[in-house]
Amino acid sequence: MQIIKSIDGLKRAIDKITIDDRDIGFVPTMGALHSGHLSLIRRAREESTTLIVSIFVNPTQFLEGEDLDNYPKREESDRKICEVAGVDILFMPSIDDMYSKDELSISAPSIRGYILEGTKRAGHFDGVLQIVMKLLNLSRADRAYFGKKDAQQLALVMQMVRDYFLDCEIVPCEIIRDEYGLALSSRNAYLSDEQKSRAYQISKSLKRATQLVLSGRLESHDIISNMRLVMSDIDEIEYISIVDRAFRPLDTLEIGNSMILVAVKVGGVRLIDNIWI
Ligand code: PAJ
Repeated sequence: MQIIKSIDGLKRAIDKITIDDRDIGFVPTMGALHSGHLSLIRRAREESTTLIVSIFVNPTQFLEGEDLDNYPKREESDRKICEVAGVDILFMPSIDDMYSKDELSISAPSIRGYILEGTKRAGHFDGVLQIVMKLLNLSRADRAYFGKKDAQQLALVMQMVRDYFLDCEIVPCEIIRDEYGLALSSRNAYLSDEQKSRAYQISKSLKRATQLVLSGRLESHDIISNMRLVMSDIDEIEYISIVDRAFRPLDTLEIGNSMILVAVKVGGVRLIDNIWI
């Protein structure tokens, strides 16, 4: 595995790959890798001749007061995980390499970028799209792999690829959970055992929603109030939202075209989860 920290280095490394092997799978991450990231990496490994993973804690997607400075860093173990997973190039650029002063910006769409995650984190998706655009261009990815865990991020990246006619396929990957159902996230590292046991109510509430749907109860308000009951020990429920796959709110859940999205806070840690029904 090559570990590359400069943009020039990445360009040279990709130029050296013979045309036959230049079928590039790419997994962008912010590091502190866990089995969720690894599932993307494994899938990309299976489907690609050359596999590039990036680790870059992108400052422009963090808002004032968020955990940019404390974002978990585990460079050594991240390298090992990538090495063992068969990554060809691990790209770890610096902030100065990736950004310049007074540069052109990308704006998230004014509706889909400013609901749900975009309401509480206004500007977050501008930063995500800006860095993903740069990384897709630098990696020259044929396919880039994103988790359904960040459903809105996934949808907006797909829209950017469409709107800007980028020549890259975005591959959605399933949510990986721990044995009790908690969706894996680098931020779970901030949770104490007690907080974690309360955080399990998030996935329990999504399971409850699935049971209701299976029993024919499709009214969104009914599903949401039942989910709130299950999450009785969660400190703060920011939102529970039932939307179609284009992120339009649904009064009645449509099987095969719906997502239930949840954002909560447990002990000050913000957690999101969702289920596609
Ligand atoms: P990060 O939070 O490190 O996540 C990298 C990728 O892993 C994302 O596509 C995310 O959806 C996926 N992922 C995280 N947890 C997952 C889980 N439990 N199951 C499946 N996939 C999971 O998302 C980002 O970084 C950044 O916003 C980034 C796209 C790298 C841009 O900076």
